[in-house]
Amino acid sequence: MKIFITGGSGLLGQYLNIGLNGKHEILTQYCSNPGNCIKFNSVRLSLEDFDGMEKIFNSFHPEIVIHAAAVSNAEKADQLPADKVYNINVNATLKISELCAKYSSKLIYFSTDLVYAGYRGSTLKEDAKLIPISLYAETKLMGEMKIKQTFDNYIILREALLIGFGLNHTTNNFHKMYASLKRNEPVTLFTDQFRSPLALHEAARMIEELSVKNISGEIFNFCGNERLSRYELGEILCEETGFDKNLLTGKTMEERKLNYKVADVSLNNEKLRSYGIQSKGVRDSIKEILAKGL
Ligand SMILES: NC(=O)c1ccc[n+]([C@@H]2O[C@H](COP(=O)([O-])OP(=O)(O)OC[C@H]3O[C@@H](n4cnc5c(N)ncnc54)[C@H](OP(=O)(O)O)[C@@H]3O)[C@@H](O)[C@H]2O)c1
Repeated sequence: MKIFITGGSGLLGQYLNIGLNGKHEILTQYCSNPGNCIKFNSVRLSLEDFDGMEKIFNSFHPEIVIHAAAVSNAEKADQLPADKVYNINVNATLKISELCAKYSSKLIYFSTDLVYAGYRGSTLKEDAKLIPISLYAETKLMGEMKIKQTFDNYIILREALLIGFGLNHTTNNFHKMYASLKRNEPVTLFTDQFRSPLALHEAARMIEELSVKNISGEIFNFCGNERLSRYELGEILCEETGFDKNLLTGKTMEERKLNYKVADVSLNNEKLRSYGIQSKGVRDSIKEILAKGL
C-alpha cells in the first residue's frame, strides 16, 4: 500500500513511521520538527498550504492517508488564535477529505476521546453523546463532520490517551511521569480523571492491521481495554518499574483548578474488537514499553 502519513513528526506519527515503513511504501509529513521523518521518505509541508497538499496527492497518489497532524491538545489550541486552530484542524481536514475523494484514497483520521462529554459515566460507546468542551475537542469533532459530509471512504478513530515514551523532541504525561519517578521526584496525579490508555507502539500495530482491512464509513473508539484513573496508571508504572509508590500523590481536578474538567472519557472498544483489532492490556503494554526501552 502507498500510505501518506500527516503528522509523521508527532508523538504518534513517529511510531507510525516505524510501524508502517517496510510493510508499506510511506510518505510521511512534518512541519517544524522533523523527528524521525528524515530517516524515511518524507516531506515538509504546512497543513495550511492547500496547494502543496494537492501536489503531494498528485505526485504520490496515496492509497491510504493517515491524518494525524493537528493542533493536538486543548492547552496548545488555547495558546493560538481560534481561526488558526480552525484552519488547521477543520479546514485542512476538509481539504484532505476532498483530495482523498478526488484521488480515491482511503482516509484514516485521528479524532479524540475528548469529543465525548466526560461526565456521563464510563466506557462510552461510539454513539454516546458528544459534547466537546474545549476549542481543541470541538475542532476535532468538526473535522469528523467535514469528513462524513465529503465522502464515505473513511475510518474515524476516537483516540484515547497515548502512553509510552516520546521519540526525539516529543513527550507526553506518561513520559514525564516516568522521568520524574526515575529521578525519585514526587508526582501528582488525578484520582478522578478516567481514561482508557493505549500504548503508542500498540496503536501503530493496530493501525497497520486496520489499514489492510476492507472497512469504510466507520467510527471507532481507539483505545486500550481498561478504565483507569491517572493515579491508577501511576501505580501500575511503579509496580512494573519498582519505583517508589510513596512518590505518588492523588489529587482531584477541583484541587488543581483545571480549565477543562473532563472526568471520565473511558471508552468501550467492543466495536474495534469485533473487527479483529485488539489491544494488549495496560500492564502488558507497560512491560513491553520498559523492555524495549521504546
Ligand atoms: N497524544 C494523545 O494522547 C492523543 C489523544 C487523543 C487524540 N490524539 C490525536 O492524535 C493525533 C496525533 O497526536 P500526537 O500526540 O501525535 O500530536 P503531536 O505530537 O502534537 O503531533 C502533531 C503533529 O501535527 C503536525 N502539525 C501540527 N500543526 C501543523 C501544521 N500547521 N502544519 C503541518 N503539520 C502540523 C506536527 O508537525 P511538526 O511538529 O513537525 O510541526 C506533528 O507532526 C492528533 O490528531 C491528536 O489530536 C492524540
